[in-house]
Amino acid sequence: MPNTLSSQLASDKKIVRQYLSRAGAPHPMSAADAEDCKSEIISLLNKRNARLVAHYYTEGVLQELAEETGGFVGDSLEMARFGHDCDGEMLVVAGVRFMGETAKILSPQKTVLMPTLDATCSLDIACPIEDFAHFCDAHPDREVVVYANTSAAVKARADWVVTSSIALEVAEYLSEQGKQILWAPDKHLGSYVQRVTGADVLLWDAACIVHEEFKSRGLEDMRRLHPNAAILAHPESPQAVLEISDFVGSTTQIITASQRLPNEEFIVATDRGIFHKLQQASPTKTFIVAPTAGEDATCRSCAHCPWMAMNSLESLRASLSNPVNAIEIDPEVARDAMKPLTRMLKFAREQRLAVRGKA
Ligand code: 13P
Ligand code: SF4
Repeated sequence: MPNTLSSQLASDKKIVRQYLSRAGAPHPMSAADAEDCKSEIISLLNKRNARLVAHYYTEGVLQELAEETGGFVGDSLEMARFGHDCDGEMLVVAGVRFMGETAKILSPQKTVLMPTLDATCSLDIACPIEDFAHFCDAHPDREVVVYANTSAAVKARADWVVTSSIALEVAEYLSEQGKQILWAPDKHLGSYVQRVTGADVLLWDAACIVHEEFKSRGLEDMRRLHPNAAILAHPESPQAVLEISDFVGSTTQIITASQRLPNEEFIVATDRGIFHKLQQASPTKTFIVAPTAGEDATCRSCAHCPWMAMNSLESLRASLSNPVNAIEIDPEVARDAMKPLTRMLKFAREQRLAVRGKA
């Protein structure tokens, strides 16, 4: 059993609900209005020499716009890399706050806008810098590894930043050097890393409100209904779900696994925004949302991140036209957070992690 920090933060659904109450759903748009809005966004992107970078969990229409306009759609590591490497004076990040902050830290000279600055993440909320700093101070001998889903201040305190596509490799590397790890904030990803690599990992106690609602019992029932389906899961899901999954990986790794595996049907335990890309990559295959039915669910049977859902054509157009919602980070914090972030990108390069093709 991995060590676990006993904290009430993760279970404090009250805090999460306060944030969720601000996560207003986008207004539905007619097809004609959506087309007008898209044209306006395209000319604004051109006018401002801006690139749209979107996560797989955002609406299909935003992912298409990003690709059609020379922007990018990917997992959080690839988004960071694209934002860093691309030309353009402005980045518009359709995703959640930590993705915009990562882009700004890695490209301080670029203006980084977001459709909304309210789009946060339950992992980020559950890891406030003051508590995290105490945790680090209490374990000075441990290498501090934080998930990308954290604030800039938490990253600034870390030795390493990782995303789910590179967490195993970094933990293995540190473990081989005899290092002990302090891990934050996602306990499910952290304990998965611990089980797979055998590394000595001390865990923070937080979870993703979306993935935590996937239930192994419901998944077993669904597998009985679809006996030939492979189960694909994101490692933010609970251990019982990961144990019965046929493949565990980051969003990009899930997409490539669905192409590579011979199955015609897949049950997918991650945000359903990814179905847009899954279906595009394998048009003849069938993808089924994994069941979520927690008694204490903050979002019952939705499998959709409420903060990712705040990104819409409307909010994107509004941020670009004024422009508003620019990410600002304290320069000292940004300077310190840049170190573990660039270390992650360098490590990924050196490992020759062909992230897009790795599954
Ligand atoms: P990926 O790095 O796999 O895209 O995951 C980000 C995330 O927030 C998953 O919930
Ligand atoms: Fe955070 Fe979960 Fe949303 Fe990903 S899906 S951004 S981990 S709340």
